[in-house]
Amino acid sequence: MKKYTAIHDITDLHAWIEEARHLKKDPFAFEHLGKRKTLCMLFFNPSLRTRISTEKAARNLGMEVIILNVGSDSWVLEFEDGTVMNAGSSEHIREAAGVLSQYADVLAVRAFPELKSRTADEDERILTSFIQHASIPVVNMESATAHPLQALSDAITISEQQKTSRPKVVLSWAPHPKALPHAVANSFVQIMKRMPVDLTITHPEGYDLNPEVTGAIPINYNQEEALQEADFVYVKNWSSYLDYGKVLEDPQGVHAKWIMTKEKLGKAQFMHCLPVRRNVVVEDAVLDSTQSLVLEQANNRTYAAQLALKKILADEI
Ligand code: CP
Repeated sequence: MKKYTAIHDITDLHAWIEEARHLKKDPFAFEHLGKRKTLCMLFFNPSLRTRISTEKAARNLGMEVIILNVGSDSWVLEFEDGTVMNAGSSEHIREAAGVLSQYADVLAVRAFPELKSRTADEDERILTSFIQHASIPVVNMESATAHPLQALSDAITISEQQKTSRPKVVLSWAPHPKALPHAVANSFVQIMKRMPVDLTITHPEGYDLNPEVTGAIPINYNQEEALQEADFVYVKNWSSYLDYGKVLEDPQGVHAKWIMTKEKLGKAQFMHCLPVRRNVVVEDAVLDSTQSLVLEQANNRTYAAQLALKKILADEI
């Protein structure tokens, strides 16, 4: 089935990036492709960038867009098969996906993890249920473990901004008061592995990502050391993967010192997927400097989404 739900759905990354950059220069070149086609976007969680950039991308391709906030605007869905639905959920995914497949031509789904059970989150029940029960292509707008539209946008941004043929990219963990998913970090690592870059990951001990994702990528628990000679520093918080979904105890208060500062950034360019908590994750001086690429990343979300939708509409994936 045609879909864009994971980094491995990208066939030739270099060609995809080139094509996205062409779309950026000429966004209405494929307006005919989406004529009389509808994108239905389902949100189980909040969004600013994904919601607006994906809608804009679809409209650039001539598509109609329908947005549904699942649970608040619609019935609460049941995902278990064979269950007696006499509690909170009113509609089963089998009917919901079947019905939506009649109203739309492409489905896009955002469904975050609960961060209670690693196994449950890695099962990606909501996303995979839509893939299984919908008869139309599905796009992942951030699931429990992956955010492939963000990662594609980040890869486009690096390709546009790089000043050397093989830049050093550092993914640096940052402090955050809440337990956050691993999706952005996972997809960023997966896409960087396919880019001509030297990637290093730095985080406090205990915050190692899924080793199946990081593989042979160097991990350095010393942030200052990892940041040496960096060209791009991608800052992101994630909760512990080992002590799954937890913000780890930090009695000495050392984790707060992982905030990104102008001094630590040096001459590197700063990246973050947004939203970002100022002066917790990164200090104002970084975000307000010309070294920050956060607006460029957010702008490229449109062309990442437009490329994925274009490839689905043109039957290229
Ligand atoms: N980066 C990102 O996905 O932003 P939103 O959560 O606002 O969509």
